[in-house]
Amino acid sequence: MAKLSIRDLELQGKRVFLRADFNVPIEGGEVVEAWRIEATLPTVRYALGRGARVILASHLGRPKGKRDPKYSLQPVARKLSELLDQEIPLAPDCVGAEVKALVDQLSDGQALLLENLRFHPEEEKNDLEFARQLAQLADLYVNDAFGAAHRAHASIEGITRFVPVAAAGFLMEKELEYLGRLLAQPEHPFVVVLGGAKVSDKILVIENLLARADTVLIGGAMAYTFLRAKGEDVGASRVESDQLELARKLMAEAEARQIAFLLPVDHVVLERMEEEVQTRVVRTEEFPERAIGMDIGPETARLFAARIAEARTVFWNGPLGVFEQPPFDQGTIAIARALAECPGVTIVGGGDSLAAIRQAGVAERITHLSTGGGATLEFLAGIELPGVKALTEKT
Ligand code: 3PG
Repeated sequence: MAKLSIRDLELQGKRVFLRADFNVPIEGGEVVEAWRIEATLPTVRYALGRGARVILASHLGRPKGKRDPKYSLQPVARKLSELLDQEIPLAPDCVGAEVKALVDQLSDGQALLLENLRFHPEEEKNDLEFARQLAQLADLYVNDAFGAAHRAHASIEGITRFVPVAAAGFLMEKELEYLGRLLAQPEHPFVVVLGGAKVSDKILVIENLLARADTVLIGGAMAYTFLRAKGEDVGASRVESDQLELARKLMAEAEARQIAFLLPVDHVVLERMEEEVQTRVVRTEEFPERAIGMDIGPETARLFAARIAEARTVFWNGPLGVFEQPPFDQGTIAIARALAECPGVTIVGGGDSLAAIRQAGVAERITHLSTGGGATLEFLAGIELPGVKALTEKT
């Protein structure tokens, strides 16, 4: 990697601004999914262990530039304290004299967490005066927030103009290494599994990966747009009518490149019969008129799993069905298990796919679980992420 790493920095006694992505689900004042926090711990532990004074910073949710207790990072501070077995206090804000004083009181090997950066509208506007105030808190800047690297915000982009160096944390490095390999030199066969609701969200990724993949497997609601584009009847399933032309273009491109572009051959559908709602499995060619596709069927899951079993590289993003509504989670769980069995390099990104991996209990058997949602997709679409671009080049 051509970017400066935290490993290259002399950290002892230095105030280090560590931008993390602690944008995690919180319920009843508690963090309910801590994996994004855990993913950054190696960087935090390393900095603390080398005697840095660590200023942790993150956004949480979308509070629209206003202070809102619902989006306070207090639960994250508690979780961090528990995970690090060390008190991580929460500062009352992220800039200002009081925060500066708290930072000045830190000893070597101590850390604090700044309050939600997005309580200030200047954060998302990449306001340079605000970025300068953030930078003034520290001597060094480290970015481990891969999940937010697609946002040109003050704590990600602007701040790097006011610090001597901007280095990547371990998580940032790991994400760039694994995802970068998918674009640069994936081992073949390279299988891409894409699900989720909308084709429109994935167009750029599909286009970019078509130049690299051998097989593309499509599930989720977006499969119905592709099936309709092929002239299939998909009953009352959700179809993006404005994306049909594009879907045809993508499939034609796959064919021209001799890439296997596989759509579901059977489906678990919901069908309203008189008063009751029925769930059943149907083949694509017998799709009932009023039925709604909710999941890939068992035959599709088998076909997809067979392709995954032969792969040397797999990338998966997006659920294959209405994952949050059992029994329509079965197709997605089957794909999670298939990835776990695959002996090749397996990379998974996106909240629902990661949840499925955990639900199937196979997280340990996946090569890399990407912490990015939008950031991972933009990276794989070939877009240069502002947060990565802003990191100092290694000389
Ligand atoms: C994410 O959860 O994908 C990142 O934290 C970015 O959040 P955002 O979409 O609100 O910018």
